[in-house]
Amino acid sequence: MDALASALDVVKVAVKCHPNIALLAALITGHRILQRLTRKQRSSILPRLRERVLIVGASSGIGRAIAHEYASRGSSVCVVGRREHQLNVVAEECAKLLPNQTAEDSSDKSRRILRIKADFNSVEDMVALRDQLEREWGGLDTLIVSAGVSALRPLLEVAGLERRDGAFYPPHADVEGVKHAVSAATAAMQSNYIGPLICVTTFIPLLSSTSPSPSVLLVSSLAAVVPAPTRSIYASTKGASLLLYQSLAIEHPYIAFTHIMPSSVEGDFRASAVDGGKVREADPNKHGLKREAVAKRCLEAIENGEKAVFMPVIMGRIAHFGYWLFPSLIERFAARKYKYVPA
Ligand SMILES: NC(=O)c1ccc[n+]([C@@H]2O[C@H](COP(=O)([O-])OP(=O)(O)OC[C@H]3O[C@@H](n4cnc5c(N)ncnc54)[C@H](OP(=O)(O)O)[C@@H]3O)[C@@H](O)[C@H]2O)c1
Repeated sequence: MDALASALDVVKVAVKCHPNIALLAALITGHRILQRLTRKQRSSILPRLRERVLIVGASSGIGRAIAHEYASRGSSVCVVGRREHQLNVVAEECAKLLPNQTAEDSSDKSRRILRIKADFNSVEDMVALRDQLEREWGGLDTLIVSAGVSALRPLLEVAGLERRDGAFYPPHADVEGVKHAVSAATAAMQSNYIGPLICVTTFIPLLSSTSPSPSVLLVSSLAAVVPAPTRSIYASTKGASLLLYQSLAIEHPYIAFTHIMPSSVEGDFRASAVDGGKVREADPNKHGLKREAVAKRCLEAIENGEKAVFMPVIMGRIAHFGYWLFPSLIERFAARKYKYVPA
């Protein structure tokens, strides 16, 4: 009771000091509650056992955890990536997780759990994948794009410059240096923007013509909306695909688009860095979000038809809104998170 009373005191003080902010918060909360109450659950239109799910980037990490979640609720799952051995492992794990009544014989299991080695940067691979899904399942309900690559170094460092005592060494980037920065950015752009673009261009018509409730989820990043040092290439390329999918959501209102924006997640994602940089922030395997938690939140968001999902929610929203209200403060937090001290 004491805690409740003091919480109410804090609210009263906040209302007194910032009545407009309190009103805005109350309006947003009320709107959210209303949305929750009136929202139609997707499984009431598309039963889970009938859902056909394609996960691009499912051989490890978040995509693999999402595949586990879908398989354990009995949906048909197609896992895609370039590492064949890893894909086989994930497909076996998914087959074991299928509820008994959905996998009575082995042919049913192999139809429900598909593994397809493909590169999402290859148009031919994605078109062949779509044709195979049409043959095997007759269509698609859910597209999850989780594949992506990391980039971990300050841009000028990628170009071969070091900054010491307020000066660059050498004083300018040479042609080779600038080309090096361009090739790192091109590799990131290819996998963080062009790959997601190829996927969505290939699958939107199939989703819209074969599903009673088509849905697309992009695994984006908090870095796509909140700038961070050492992440200039990563953040800008993830931002590009986020805006692409957000715009497509308006062009295709008959498809539910969801964008999840997690902060650091456990796993080996940083090994995919296109610029070979070191990890500066607190060890994601000790302090990062759990892959399973991110995967569960993805399924929940798709079920509820949510558009933008931050993880962790408070930190993500504060950083996102905070950047527009107090950019210098958020920049300082970001520099601290990545242990970046400008020289
Ligand atoms: N980990 C984090 O801290 C974090 C935080 C926020 C957002 N994210 C986002 O989460 C997503 C997944 O990251 P993760 O942590 O799960 O990393 P991960 O374990 O490295 O998984 C990346 C997946 O993408 C696949 N992939 C990469 N390039 C591909 C390509 N060209 N074609 C097909 N598949 C490809 C990889 O499979 P193959 O290598 O077998 O092809 C792998 O299955 C990324 O988009 C990332 O930006 C990650």
